[in-house]
Amino acid sequence: DGDVFKYYCEGEWKKSASGKSVAIINPTTRKTQYKVQACTQEEVNKAMEIAKAAQKSWAKTPLWKRAELLHKAAAILKEHKAPIAECLVKEIAKPAKDAVTEVVRSGDLISYTAEEGVRILGEGKFLVSDSFPGNERTKYCLTSKIPLGVILAIPPFNYPVNLAVSKIGPALITGNSLVLKPPTQGAVAALHMVHCFHLAGFPKGLISCITGKGSEIGDFLTMHPGVNCISFTGGDTGVAISKKAGMVPLQMELGGKDACIVLEDADLDLAAGNIVKGGFSYSGQRCTAVKVVLVMESVADTLVEKVKAKVAKLTVGPPEDNCDITPVVSESSANFIEGLVMDAKQKDATFCQPYKREGNLIWPLLLDNVRPDMRIAWEEPFGPVLPVIRINSVEEGIHHCNASNFGLQGCVFTKDINKAILISDAMETGTVQINSAPARGPDHFPFQGLKDSGIGSQGITNSINMMTKVKTTVINLP
Ligand code: G3P
Repeated sequence: DGDVFKYYCEGEWKKSASGKSVAIINPTTRKTQYKVQACTQEEVNKAMEIAKAAQKSWAKTPLWKRAELLHKAAAILKEHKAPIAECLVKEIAKPAKDAVTEVVRSGDLISYTAEEGVRILGEGKFLVSDSFPGNERTKYCLTSKIPLGVILAIPPFNYPVNLAVSKIGPALITGNSLVLKPPTQGAVAALHMVHCFHLAGFPKGLISCITGKGSEIGDFLTMHPGVNCISFTGGDTGVAISKKAGMVPLQMELGGKDACIVLEDADLDLAAGNIVKGGFSYSGQRCTAVKVVLVMESVADTLVEKVKAKVAKLTVGPPEDNCDITPVVSESSANFIEGLVMDAKQKDATFCQPYKREGNLIWPLLLDNVRPDMRIAWEEPFGPVLPVIRINSVEEGIHHCNASNFGLQGCVFTKDINKAILISDAMETGTVQINSAPARGPDHFPFQGLKDSGIGSQGITNSINMMTKVKTTVINLP
């Protein structure tokens, strides 16, 4: 069937032996946009087997050559930004401009990774024994960083290209091979991105891209004995994966309930601008979105008015028209969001706008006077709905933030830098932004979540280190 996009294995584009496909539903039209192969467990086995073989010679390929190929892939990716962005628009309803930004940012990320990789991996350590009590200077220890083997990369739907290359780049520069399982929504964008690596001329088998149903190959992939490291970004599935995975390093970035604490002395225009950008960009479908505003009662009315005025200016409609608010990724996601909104309604939250939904398109909604007994106070809508909780002390805000199971990022708005630092220290999150909305980038910054928000740290430098292991050789002198 020529309509079904092929998967990538052994340096070739292939049809699955299953004869089955997985449909990708366009969130805007709610009709099938594309189809991808439903790969089988045998096909996963094959990808793992060749990844293992390809890795051995890749690890011996000089580092500068590995970097050169990555730079080439980055350039090809940027050249093809238009067709890849088009897929993002159709598969995940990302606004057209943001879709292009995602691809360009991905090219930059790959190049930066190549540069960072040659510096980090180009250095080792030399230790001598006589610093430890009882030792003479008779042992010299040489350290270097070696690859782990086969990396399994599983990115989420909201950045199918960028959060794939943030795993692929570090995996390849460090001498690992890679099996990519893209999200269903976003799989075609990912296949196009993989094609750029194919065109760059990476060795056969080094990269595979396996598409299919999570129910069929998800556990099979994550529990596969051929996997030496899993890098996963996504939701609750990550918790399940971490329980089932074998003795391999895990890198996980899961959900968040990023709080925005606004103090009395804050620049309220700055805060309002960041709340709207942070809460509603890509319709709130970012793990680093502002997901709860905790504002001091004395400035709450003013802040809410300012946010409301900005929300009124957001455009709502199809991603092709570059609207700010576009349909959420699926009907089940829209239904989940609606459930949170109805729960808040029943419990008397103040609706700053009327609730409106057409298909998967949900109009931006600010909910004021949210209380801790409402689900929206704790759960992650992953949609354009933002709760405001009024607080009477900073401690109350910190308490709410830390009572969450999540701990990805948070932010605080105040002109008092001393207070800001103290609040940052008290917030149990991987990152705290002072006077700006949460965000992962710039992409070389460390990116990590505490508690259910993740395991390990990402960002270019940390991912490079995470995908290597230290190897030592000790020279024993007579
Ligand atoms: O939701 C994925 C997470 O990595 C967010 O990235 O760039 O939107 O802060 P960003």
